[in-house]
Amino acid sequence: MTDTTERFAAKAALRDLRPYEPGLSAEALRRRIGDEHRIVKLGSNEGPWGPLPAAAEAIIAHVEGLNRYPDGSFHELRSLIAADHGATPEQVVLGNGADSILINLSLSLLEPGDEVVYGWPSFITYPISVRKVGAVPVGVPLDSDYRYDLDAMLAAITDRTRLVYVCNPNNPTGTYVDRARLAAFIEALPEHVLCVLDEAYHEYVVSDDYADGIREFVTGPAARGNVMVLRTMSKIYGLAGLRIGWGVGPANVVRSVDVVRGPFEMNALANAAALASFGARDQLEMRVAANEAGRTALEAALREVGLDPIPGAANFVCVPLPEGVTGRAVADALQSIGVIVRPLDGFGMPDAFRISVGTPEEIEISIAAIRATLPGLLAAG
Ligand SMILES: Cc1ncc(COP(=O)(O)O)c(C=O)c1O
Repeated sequence: MTDTTERFAAKAALRDLRPYEPGLSAEALRRRIGDEHRIVKLGSNEGPWGPLPAAAEAIIAHVEGLNRYPDGSFHELRSLIAADHGATPEQVVLGNGADSILINLSLSLLEPGDEVVYGWPSFITYPISVRKVGAVPVGVPLDSDYRYDLDAMLAAITDRTRLVYVCNPNNPTGTYVDRARLAAFIEALPEHVLCVLDEAYHEYVVSDDYADGIREFVTGPAARGNVMVLRTMSKIYGLAGLRIGWGVGPANVVRSVDVVRGPFEMNALANAAALASFGARDQLEMRVAANEAGRTALEAALREVGLDPIPGAANFVCVPLPEGVTGRAVADALQSIGVIVRPLDGFGMPDAFRISVGTPEEIEISIAAIRATLPGLLAAG
Protein backbone atom coordinates (compact mmCIF):
# COMPACT_ATOMS: atom_id res chain seq x y z
CA MET A 1 0.00 0.00 0.00
CA THR A 2 1.23 3.53 -0.76
CA ASP A 3 2.52 5.48 2.23
CA THR A 4 -0.08 8.19 2.82
CA THR A 5 1.83 10.16 5.45
CA GLU A 6 3.27 12.56 2.85
CA ARG A 7 0.18 12.69 0.65
CA PHE A 8 -2.23 13.57 3.44
CA ALA A 9 0.07 15.52 5.71
CA ALA A 10 -1.59 18.02 8.05
CA LYS A 11 -1.42 21.69 7.09
CA ALA A 12 1.83 23.43 7.98
CA ALA A 13 0.45 25.15 11.10
CA LEU A 14 -0.27 21.74 12.67
CA ARG A 15 3.01 19.93 11.93
CA ASP A 16 4.60 20.50 15.35
CA LEU A 17 1.42 20.09 17.39
CA ARG A 18 0.49 17.00 19.34
CA PRO A 19 -3.06 16.12 20.42
CA TYR A 20 -4.08 17.63 23.78
CA GLU A 21 -3.00 15.33 26.59
CA PRO A 22 -5.74 15.28 29.24
CA GLY A 23 -5.09 14.35 32.87
CA LEU A 24 -4.85 10.61 33.60
CA SER A 25 -8.27 8.93 33.91
CA ALA A 26 -9.23 6.63 36.79
CA GLU A 27 -9.71 3.77 34.30
CA ALA A 28 -6.21 4.23 32.85
CA LEU A 29 -4.65 4.21 36.32
CA ARG A 30 -6.67 1.14 37.33
CA ARG A 31 -5.27 -0.69 34.28
CA ARG A 32 -1.80 0.27 35.49
CA ILE A 33 -2.01 -0.45 39.25
CA GLY A 34 -4.98 -2.82 39.56
CA ASP A 35 -7.62 -2.80 42.29
CA GLU A 36 -5.45 -2.66 45.40
CA HIS A 37 -5.94 1.06 46.05
CA ARG A 38 -8.99 3.29 45.98
CA ILE A 39 -8.43 5.63 43.03
CA VAL A 40 -8.89 9.33 43.67
CA LYS A 41 -8.84 11.57 40.60
CA LEU A 42 -7.39 14.98 41.44
CA GLY A 43 -5.55 15.74 38.23
CA SER A 44 -8.06 17.67 36.12
CA ASN A 45 -9.62 20.34 38.38
CA GLU A 46 -13.10 18.92 37.98
CA GLY A 47 -15.62 19.68 40.70
CA PRO A 48 -15.62 16.62 43.01
CA TRP A 49 -19.41 16.67 43.40
CA GLY A 50 -21.81 15.50 40.72
CA PRO A 51 -24.38 17.63 38.92
CA LEU A 52 -26.81 19.52 41.18
CA PRO A 53 -29.90 17.29 41.80
CA ALA A 54 -32.11 19.51 39.62
CA ALA A 55 -29.63 19.15 36.74
CA ALA A 56 -29.52 15.37 37.09
CA GLU A 57 -33.33 15.26 37.00
CA ALA A 58 -33.45 17.52 33.95
CA ILE A 59 -30.96 15.29 32.10
CA ILE A 60 -33.06 12.19 32.76
CA ALA A 61 -36.28 13.99 31.84
CA HIS A 62 -34.83 15.01 28.46
CA VAL A 63 -33.55 11.58 27.44
CA GLU A 64 -36.91 10.74 25.82
CA GLY A 65 -36.61 13.61 23.35
CA LEU A 66 -33.13 12.73 22.11
CA ASN A 67 -34.41 11.64 18.69
CA ARG A 68 -34.84 15.38 17.95
CA TYR A 69 -32.12 17.90 17.17
CA PRO A 70 -31.85 20.57 19.84
CA ASP A 71 -33.21 24.09 19.30
CA GLY A 72 -30.04 25.37 17.62
CA SER A 73 -30.47 28.94 18.85
CA PHE A 74 -30.54 27.87 22.53
CA HIS A 75 -32.55 31.02 22.98
CA GLU A 76 -33.87 30.19 26.47
CA LEU A 77 -30.40 29.52 27.87
CA ARG A 78 -28.89 32.58 26.23
CA SER A 79 -31.77 34.72 27.56
CA LEU A 80 -31.36 33.34 31.07
CA ILE A 81 -27.61 33.99 31.11
CA ALA A 82 -28.17 37.46 29.66
CA ALA A 83 -30.81 38.35 32.27
CA ASP A 84 -28.57 37.10 35.09
CA HIS A 85 -25.69 39.33 34.02
CA GLY A 86 -27.35 42.46 32.66
CA ALA A 87 -26.52 41.54 29.04
CA THR A 88 -28.59 40.88 25.91
CA PRO A 89 -28.97 37.34 24.46
CA GLU A 90 -26.93 38.54 21.46
CA GLN A 91 -23.95 39.03 23.80
CA VAL A 92 -24.00 35.40 24.99
CA VAL A 93 -21.84 32.75 23.36
CA LEU A 94 -22.20 29.01 24.04
CA GLY A 95 -19.84 26.15 23.35
CA ASN A 96 -19.05 22.49 23.82
CA GLY A 97 -17.03 23.48 26.87
CA ALA A 98 -15.16 26.79 27.17
CA ASP A 99 -12.44 24.97 25.24
CA SER A 100 -14.48 25.03 22.06
CA ILE A 101 -15.16 28.75 22.48
CA LEU A 102 -11.39 29.29 22.69
CA ILE A 103 -10.78 27.51 19.40
CA ASN A 104 -13.76 29.26 17.80
CA LEU A 105 -12.33 32.64 18.83
CA SER A 106 -9.12 31.71 17.01
CA LEU A 107 -11.02 30.48 13.94
CA SER A 108 -13.17 33.57 13.75
CA LEU A 109 -10.74 36.37 14.66
CA LEU A 110 -7.18 35.38 13.75
CA GLU A 111 -5.39 35.64 10.42
CA PRO A 112 -2.13 33.70 10.00
CA GLY A 113 0.66 35.78 11.58
CA ASP A 114 -1.63 37.59 14.03
CA GLU A 115 -0.34 37.58 17.59
CA VAL A 116 -2.06 36.52 20.82
CA VAL A 117 -0.60 37.56 24.18
CA TYR A 118 -1.19 35.54 27.36
CA GLY A 119 0.60 34.79 30.62
CA TRP A 120 2.75 31.68 30.91
CA PRO A 121 2.55 29.16 32.60
CA SER A 122 -1.16 29.15 31.98
CA PHE A 123 -3.92 27.18 30.30
CA ILE A 124 -2.43 25.06 27.51
CA THR A 125 -5.34 25.59 25.14
CA TYR A 126 -4.33 29.24 24.59
CA PRO A 127 -1.12 28.55 22.62
CA ILE A 128 -2.52 25.41 21.02
CA SER A 129 -5.70 27.08 19.70
CA VAL A 130 -3.67 29.99 18.36
CA ARG A 131 -1.15 27.79 16.55
CA LYS A 132 -3.89 25.71 14.94
CA VAL A 133 -4.80 28.68 12.74
CA GLY A 134 -1.23 29.74 11.95
CA ALA A 135 -1.29 32.68 14.38
CA VAL A 136 1.54 33.41 16.79
CA PRO A 137 1.29 32.70 20.53
CA VAL A 138 3.20 35.21 22.68
CA GLY A 139 3.54 33.81 26.21
CA VAL A 140 4.62 36.40 28.79
CA PRO A 141 6.23 35.02 31.99
CA LEU A 142 4.22 35.32 35.21
CA ASP A 143 5.58 37.68 37.88
CA SER A 144 7.62 36.45 40.87
CA ASP A 145 4.39 35.69 42.77
CA TYR A 146 3.18 33.44 39.91
CA ARG A 147 0.53 36.01 38.89
CA TYR A 148 -0.21 37.36 35.43
CA ASP A 149 2.25 40.21 34.81
CA LEU A 150 -0.15 42.65 33.20
CA ASP A 151 2.44 45.41 32.67
CA ALA A 152 4.74 43.03 30.82
CA MET A 153 1.77 41.86 28.77
CA LEU A 154 0.93 45.44 27.77
CA ALA A 155 4.55 45.88 26.72
CA ALA A 156 4.30 42.72 24.55
CA ILE A 157 1.35 44.03 22.52
CA THR A 158 2.18 45.02 18.93
CA ASP A 159 0.23 46.12 15.85
CA ARG A 160 -0.27 42.41 15.07
CA THR A 161 -1.83 41.57 18.46
CA ARG A 162 -5.54 40.81 18.17
CA LEU A 163 -6.27 38.97 21.43
CA VAL A 164 -4.96 38.91 24.98
CA TYR A 165 -5.94 36.08 27.31
CA VAL A 166 -6.14 36.66 31.05
CA CYS A 167 -6.80 33.50 33.03
CA ASN A 168 -8.32 34.65 36.31
CA PRO A 169 -7.71 32.72 38.53
CA ASN A 170 -4.86 31.24 36.56
CA ASN A 171 -4.66 27.54 35.80
CA PRO A 172 -2.25 26.02 36.92
CA THR A 173 -0.97 28.46 39.57
CA GLY A 174 -4.33 29.34 41.19
CA THR A 175 -3.36 33.02 41.54
CA TYR A 176 -5.57 35.90 40.43
CA VAL A 177 -5.09 39.53 39.46
CA ASP A 178 -7.19 41.90 41.54
CA ARG A 179 -9.92 44.23 40.35
CA ALA A 180 -7.80 47.40 40.32
CA ARG A 181 -4.94 45.89 38.29
CA LEU A 182 -7.34 44.27 35.85
CA ALA A 183 -9.33 47.48 35.37
CA ALA A 184 -6.14 49.47 34.68
CA PHE A 185 -4.97 46.82 32.19
CA ILE A 186 -8.26 46.75 30.29
CA GLU A 187 -8.33 50.55 30.25
CA ALA A 188 -4.81 50.64 28.78
CA LEU A 189 -5.44 48.14 25.95
CA PRO A 190 -5.17 49.58 22.46
CA GLU A 191 -8.37 49.75 20.38
CA HIS A 192 -7.42 46.81 18.14
CA VAL A 193 -7.05 44.26 20.99
CA LEU A 194 -9.84 42.13 22.49
CA CYS A 195 -9.29 40.90 26.05
CA VAL A 196 -10.59 37.39 26.70
CA LEU A 197 -10.99 37.02 30.44
CA ASP A 198 -11.13 33.31 31.23
CA GLU A 199 -13.04 32.89 34.49
CA ALA A 200 -13.40 29.11 34.49
CA TYR A 201 -12.88 29.07 38.29
CA HIS A 202 -14.83 32.26 39.05
CA GLU A 203 -17.42 30.74 41.40
CA TYR A 204 -14.79 29.43 43.81
CA VAL A 205 -13.13 32.76 44.56
CA VAL A 206 -14.20 34.36 47.84
CA SER A 207 -11.83 37.39 47.99
CA ASP A 208 -13.42 40.84 47.96
CA ASP A 209 -10.87 42.29 45.55
CA TYR A 210 -11.63 39.67 42.88
CA ALA A 211 -13.67 41.17 40.05
CA ASP A 212 -16.84 39.77 38.48
CA GLY A 213 -15.52 40.29 34.95
CA ILE A 214 -18.94 40.30 33.28
CA ARG A 215 -20.52 42.89 35.55
CA GLU A 216 -17.44 45.07 35.71
CA PHE A 217 -15.93 44.92 32.23
CA VAL A 218 -18.65 43.74 29.83
CA THR A 219 -22.02 45.06 30.96
CA GLY A 220 -21.11 47.66 33.62
CA PRO A 221 -20.96 51.44 33.09
CA ALA A 222 -17.15 51.38 32.64
CA ALA A 223 -17.32 48.76 29.85
CA ARG A 224 -15.31 49.68 26.73
CA GLY A 225 -16.65 46.90 24.49
CA ASN A 226 -13.25 45.17 24.44
CA VAL A 227 -13.77 42.24 26.84
CA MET A 228 -15.22 38.74 26.41
CA VAL A 229 -15.59 36.77 29.66
CA LEU A 230 -15.64 32.96 29.55
CA ARG A 231 -17.18 30.67 32.17
CA THR A 232 -17.80 26.93 32.34
CA MET A 233 -20.19 24.42 33.90
CA SER A 234 -17.29 21.93 34.14
CA LYS A 235 -16.06 22.98 37.57
CA ILE A 236 -18.33 23.92 40.47
CA TYR A 237 -21.50 22.80 38.63
CA GLY A 238 -20.10 19.27 38.27
CA LEU A 239 -20.88 18.90 34.56
CA ALA A 240 -17.43 18.43 32.98
CA GLY A 241 -18.54 15.25 31.20
CA LEU A 242 -21.41 17.00 29.48
CA ARG A 243 -19.27 19.83 28.01
CA ILE A 244 -20.91 23.22 28.54
CA GLY A 245 -19.07 26.51 28.32
CA TRP A 246 -20.44 29.99 27.87
CA GLY A 247 -19.33 33.57 27.67
CA VAL A 248 -20.55 37.16 27.53
CA GLY A 249 -18.91 39.75 25.32
CA PRO A 250 -19.36 42.12 22.39
CA ALA A 251 -22.30 41.08 20.17
CA ASN A 252 -20.20 41.27 16.99
CA VAL A 253 -17.63 38.83 18.44
CA VAL A 254 -20.45 36.47 19.44
CA ARG A 255 -21.78 36.68 15.87
CA SER A 256 -18.34 35.85 14.45
CA VAL A 257 -18.05 32.81 16.73
CA ASP A 258 -21.56 31.73 15.70
CA VAL A 259 -20.39 31.74 12.07
CA VAL A 260 -17.54 29.29 12.67
CA ARG A 261 -19.05 27.00 15.29
CA GLY A 262 -20.70 23.70 14.38
CA PRO A 263 -24.49 23.80 13.99
CA PHE A 264 -25.12 21.99 17.29
CA GLU A 265 -22.04 22.45 19.44
CA MET A 266 -24.26 22.44 22.50
CA ASN A 267 -26.53 19.45 22.90
CA ALA A 268 -30.04 19.05 24.30
CA LEU A 269 -28.95 17.42 27.57
CA ALA A 270 -26.31 20.08 28.16
CA ASN A 271 -28.93 22.74 27.56
CA ALA A 272 -31.41 21.16 30.00
CA ALA A 273 -28.70 20.64 32.64
CA ALA A 274 -27.43 24.22 32.36
CA LEU A 275 -30.92 25.72 32.68
CA ALA A 276 -31.69 23.58 35.73
CA SER A 277 -28.27 24.28 37.31
CA PHE A 278 -28.70 28.03 37.07
CA GLY A 279 -32.12 27.64 38.70
CA ALA A 280 -30.49 25.86 41.67
CA ARG A 281 -27.45 28.11 41.97
CA ASP A 282 -28.10 28.83 45.66
CA GLN A 283 -26.95 25.26 46.38
CA LEU A 284 -23.39 26.15 45.35
CA GLU A 285 -22.66 27.87 48.66
CA MET A 286 -21.92 24.58 50.38
CA ARG A 287 -19.53 23.62 47.57
CA VAL A 288 -17.67 26.92 47.89
CA ALA A 289 -17.28 26.48 51.66
CA ALA A 290 -16.14 22.85 51.29
CA ASN A 291 -13.62 23.91 48.65
CA GLU A 292 -12.13 26.59 50.90
CA ALA A 293 -11.81 24.14 53.81
CA GLY A 294 -10.36 21.44 51.55
CA ARG A 295 -7.82 23.71 49.88
CA THR A 296 -6.67 25.00 53.26
CA ALA A 297 -6.25 21.43 54.59
CA LEU A 298 -4.29 20.36 51.50
CA GLU A 299 -2.01 23.41 51.69
CA ALA A 300 -1.32 22.71 55.37
CA ALA A 301 -0.46 19.05 54.68
CA LEU A 302 1.90 20.07 51.88
CA ARG A 303 3.64 22.58 54.13
CA GLU A 304 3.93 19.92 56.80
CA VAL A 305 6.09 17.78 54.49
CA GLY A 306 8.31 20.78 53.72
CA LEU A 307 6.75 22.08 50.51
CA ASP A 308 5.69 25.64 49.74
CA PRO A 309 2.36 25.61 47.86
CA ILE A 310 1.41 28.77 45.95
CA PRO A 311 -1.44 30.58 47.75
CA GLY A 312 -4.34 29.96 45.39
CA ALA A 313 -7.96 31.01 45.05
CA ALA A 314 -9.53 28.22 43.00
CA ASN A 315 -10.25 24.50 43.46
CA PHE A 316 -6.67 23.29 43.20
CA VAL A 317 -3.23 23.78 44.70
CA CYS A 318 -0.06 24.34 42.67
CA VAL A 319 3.12 23.10 44.32
CA PRO A 320 6.61 24.13 43.17
CA LEU A 321 9.23 21.50 44.07
CA PRO A 322 12.79 21.79 45.32
CA GLU A 323 15.64 21.37 42.85
CA GLY A 324 16.12 17.82 41.66
CA VAL A 325 12.49 16.76 42.14
CA THR A 326 10.15 16.80 39.15
CA GLY A 327 6.38 17.00 39.04
CA ARG A 328 6.46 13.71 37.08
CA ALA A 329 8.29 11.96 39.94
CA VAL A 330 5.74 13.23 42.48
CA ALA A 331 2.82 12.27 40.22
CA ASP A 332 4.27 8.77 39.72
CA ALA A 333 4.75 8.29 43.47
CA LEU A 334 1.22 9.43 44.37
CA GLN A 335 -0.34 7.56 41.46
CA SER A 336 1.36 4.32 42.51
CA ILE A 337 -0.97 4.37 45.53
CA GLY A 338 -4.05 5.59 43.70
CA VAL A 339 -3.95 9.41 43.88
CA ILE A 340 -3.98 11.08 40.47
CA VAL A 341 -2.36 14.54 40.37
CA ARG A 342 -1.14 16.59 37.43
CA PRO A 343 2.55 16.96 36.54
CA LEU A 344 2.91 20.39 34.94
CA ASP A 345 5.56 19.95 32.23
CA GLY A 346 2.92 20.57 29.54
CA PHE A 347 2.08 23.86 31.27
CA GLY A 348 5.72 24.98 31.33
CA MET A 349 6.37 24.05 34.99
CA PRO A 350 8.24 20.71 34.97
CA ASP A 351 9.35 21.30 38.56
CA ALA A 352 5.82 21.53 39.98
CA PHE A 353 2.61 19.57 40.29
CA ARG A 354 -1.05 20.46 40.75
CA ILE A 355 -3.61 18.75 42.94
CA SER A 356 -7.36 19.44 42.79
CA VAL A 357 -9.54 19.81 45.88
CA GLY A 358 -11.66 16.66 46.23
CA THR A 359 -14.47 15.70 48.59
CA PRO A 360 -13.55 15.59 52.31
CA GLU A 361 -12.95 11.83 51.98
CA GLU A 362 -10.76 12.28 48.89
CA ILE A 363 -8.79 15.00 50.66
CA GLU A 364 -8.18 12.69 53.59
CA ILE A 365 -6.93 9.95 51.26
CA SER A 366 -4.70 12.34 49.35
CA ILE A 367 -3.21 13.83 52.53
CA ALA A 368 -2.39 10.31 53.75
CA ALA A 369 -0.75 9.60 50.38
CA ILE A 370 1.25 12.85 50.55
CA ARG A 371 2.51 11.92 54.03
CA ALA A 372 3.34 8.37 52.91
CA THR A 373 5.28 9.21 49.72
CA LEU A 374 6.61 12.75 49.60
CA PRO A 375 9.00 12.94 52.59
CA GLY A 376 11.05 10.03 51.16
CA LEU A 377 10.97 11.41 47.64
CA LEU A 378 12.02 14.87 48.79
CA ALA A 379 14.84 13.48 50.92
CA ALA A 380 16.15 11.40 47.99
CA GLY A 381 15.78 14.31 45.51
C1 LIG B 1 -8.63 28.13 32.65
C2 LIG B 1 -9.51 27.17 31.95
N1 LIG B 1 -10.23 27.58 30.92
C3 LIG B 1 -11.04 26.74 30.26
C4 LIG B 1 -11.15 25.42 30.63
C5 LIG B 1 -11.99 24.51 29.80
O1 LIG B 1 -13.21 24.29 30.37
P1 LIG B 1 -14.30 23.39 29.65
O2 LIG B 1 -14.37 22.12 30.40
O3 LIG B 1 -15.56 24.21 29.76
O4 LIG B 1 -13.88 23.20 28.22
C6 LIG B 1 -10.39 24.93 31.70
C7 LIG B 1 -10.47 23.51 32.07
O5 LIG B 1 -9.74 22.99 32.85
C8 LIG B 1 -9.54 25.83 32.37
O6 LIG B 1 -8.78 25.43 33.38
